[in-house]
Amino acid sequence: MNQDRRQFSKTTLLAGATLASGATLASGATLLLADDEPKKRIRTGVIGCGSVSNQYMPILTRSPFVDVVSLCDIRPERARGQAAKYKIANHYPNIDAMLAGEPFDFLVDLTDMQEHEKINRRGLEAGKHIWSEKPIANTLAAGQELLQLAKNKNIRLWGAPITVHSPQFAFMAKSLARGDLGRVAAAHAHYGHEGPSWSSFFYEKGGGSLPDLAVYNLTSLTGLLGPVKQVSAMLSVVTPERDIREKGKIQVVAEDNAMLLLDHGAGLVSHVQSGFNYFNVHGHDGSGEKRHTIEIVGNRGYMGMVGYDWAPLGVEMATHDSPKLTLHATDADGYVWQLGAALAAECLATGRELLVTPEQALHVLEIITAARESSATGKRIALSSTFRWPLFT
Ligand SMILES: NC(=O)c1ccc[n+]([C@@H]2O[C@H](COP(=O)([O-])OP(=O)(O)OC[C@H]3O[C@@H](n4cnc5c(N)ncnc54)[C@H](O)[C@@H]3O)[C@@H](O)[C@H]2O)c1
Repeated sequence: MNQDRRQFSKTTLLAGATLASGATLASGATLLLADDEPKKRIRTGVIGCGSVSNQYMPILTRSPFVDVVSLCDIRPERARGQAAKYKIANHYPNIDAMLAGEPFDFLVDLTDMQEHEKINRRGLEAGKHIWSEKPIANTLAAGQELLQLAKNKNIRLWGAPITVHSPQFAFMAKSLARGDLGRVAAAHAHYGHEGPSWSSFFYEKGGGSLPDLAVYNLTSLTGLLGPVKQVSAMLSVVTPERDIREKGKIQVVAEDNAMLLLDHGAGLVSHVQSGFNYFNVHGHDGSGEKRHTIEIVGNRGYMGMVGYDWAPLGVEMATHDSPKLTLHATDADGYVWQLGAALAAECLATGRELLVTPEQALHVLEIITAARESSATGKRIALSSTFRWPLFT
């Protein structure tokens, strides 16, 4: 057994659960043995060599389904630096040069939030499968256009985050599907920190705590409770000026504080709170967050996710029949939030399917744009998009 492979496979062990559709989750449900060579490595190009690339690259370069052949960044020194660090043969200073250079099939987009739509379109037009950091596009209409383009070309488009792939999410979704909480009434989710200091795009138009942070809770809550019918929101800027590395003082335009109310239908209402002004005693260390960041209550039970939904540590549950708050699902079972692009490549190589879908990512995007409209107009906004739900039966 090749130890690297065993370790990688452990990181791809995702619950092995059965989807509502009956398909099996993309995962290393069976550990790869030495003689079990993967049939295919997906030739991959990564665009955007900033902060998050340091999270993606170690996983992509260890994946038996991925061959990273090129890197790209409009700050060429970053692409060059990451190419040297991860021993990638080719690096380029812009997407045109990358697309004209070393051939590849799968584009991993880790650029600024506002750049994704443009880059993803370029990639799809060039026939590349896409994994995009959030958001896939700036608006629902543009995102739907991209998805249609992908379908027309018989290529794939996926977007972060993958919170629905954690074993803790699976535990909660299956408990809800069994009716353990009785009639579900309400949910609350929160996520925040003191805000990034390395790039200004987080605070510019099209940035904000909604697409950067609330997107995790919105993916989890819609995955657990179903698509949203209407949104009400209040957004604000608490810190109008920030200091950004290499740039100095900037004005904050996008929300750095957000409160959303989501109507899931049948009387079920959830609340999401996110912001860039939230002090935490543990800083932003996932292993340090022990609070319930997602709470769901029904007339016969309560469930709380311990820790962030992108790095959950367990689920506490109490019900009428079993009223002592008890901790479940403490094993990450290989789930890490940075795994999405490697899982997508595994799907391309094996034909397996991911639990997270572009339709859900676009529904979450519509919630975000609707929240902005609601806050600006003082009105409740009806949504038009949906996705296949429930994820687990
Ligand atoms: N940093 C994190 O820990 C983290 C975690 C999860 C998700 N994300 C998401 O990852 C994405 C990137 O965030 P980041 O923190 O790495 O930002 P960053 O500013 O550190 O990196 C972005 C990189 O993209 C490059 N870039 C921008 N436009 C480009 C273009 N048109 N072509 C090529 N390169 C381009 C920039 O030069 C920069 O190096 C965002 O969507 C963010 O929400 C970041």
